[in-house]
Amino acid sequence: MPDEQHPQHRVGARPSAVVSSVRAHADEAARIIGRQLDVLDLGGGTGGVAVPLAEDGHRVTVVDPSPDALAALSRRAREAGIHDNLTSVQGDGDSLDSVLSGGRFDLVCCHGALEFVDDPAETLRAISDALRPGGTLSLHVAGRLAVVFAKAIAGEFAQARAALVDPDGRWGRSDPLPRRFDLDRLEDLLSGAGLTVVQVRGANILGHLVPASLVDSDADRAALAELDELLVAGPGRDFLRTLGNGLHLIARRD
Ligand SMILES: C[S@@+](CC[C@H](N)C(=O)[O-])C[C@H]1O[C@@H](n2cnc3c(N)ncnc32)[C@H](O)[C@@H]1O
Repeated sequence: MPDEQHPQHRVGARPSAVVSSVRAHADEAARIIGRQLDVLDLGGGTGGVAVPLAEDGHRVTVVDPSPDALAALSRRAREAGIHDNLTSVQGDGDSLDSVLSGGRFDLVCCHGALEFVDDPAETLRAISDALRPGGTLSLHVAGRLAVVFAKAIAGEFAQARAALVDPDGRWGRSDPLPRRFDLDRLEDLLSGAGLTVVQVRGANILGHLVPASLVDSDADRAALAELDELLVAGPGRDFLRTLGNGLHLIARRD
């Protein structure tokens, strides 16, 4: 997720657990259908998700509006020797129809991008159209409650309140993120797009709240990431997922 809130309070902003989970889903789907997947990574940026999937042999198309990000992605793909598996297209989530022909992807990843599109409901419908029946969406977005907690813990009570009551979950006019999501709103949006939610995880629940000054080493970072994983894995703790700095949903096209 974008590093947008309280730099001093951010640790492990994009947990690798999210990427590991997408790779595992892709591996499982590939095993079931008997071939590597056709993947669309919307807002794929410099390839944080796309590159590992391409390394696993999937054919990945990255759509992103940023020419700089796409140039960095191409360099990275060449260096990793995976450029045959990666196609990049300059475009955005508001004009997917014009850059892609529909219904040909087994997996669409949309990580850290739905926050920026003009109309999330429209983009999710376009994503659904881009999926084959039975295909999967991996959606990772910024959660509203995480920023409310982070702001309150930092003593920014007015900003915490603003983020809680603002329809888009923004803490103020200088908030760099256009919107954050509540889990129930996301589930409604997905179902309105013909997508059935099959998994919900909260990502980076504690890591987001611990001051970076308290995390000195890779060992600390790993311990905190493990704590986050254990926290959401335990029985009866499903409610904690709504506190994730990131909300990670897997949904299937009916
Ligand atoms: C936080 S980065 C996430 C990059 C990548 N998905 C990842 O997880 O590593 C957000 C990306 O969304 C892209 N973006 C911004 N506005 C967008 C839009 N309207 N549609 C699609 N992507 C957009 C940005 O260019 C940027 O690459």
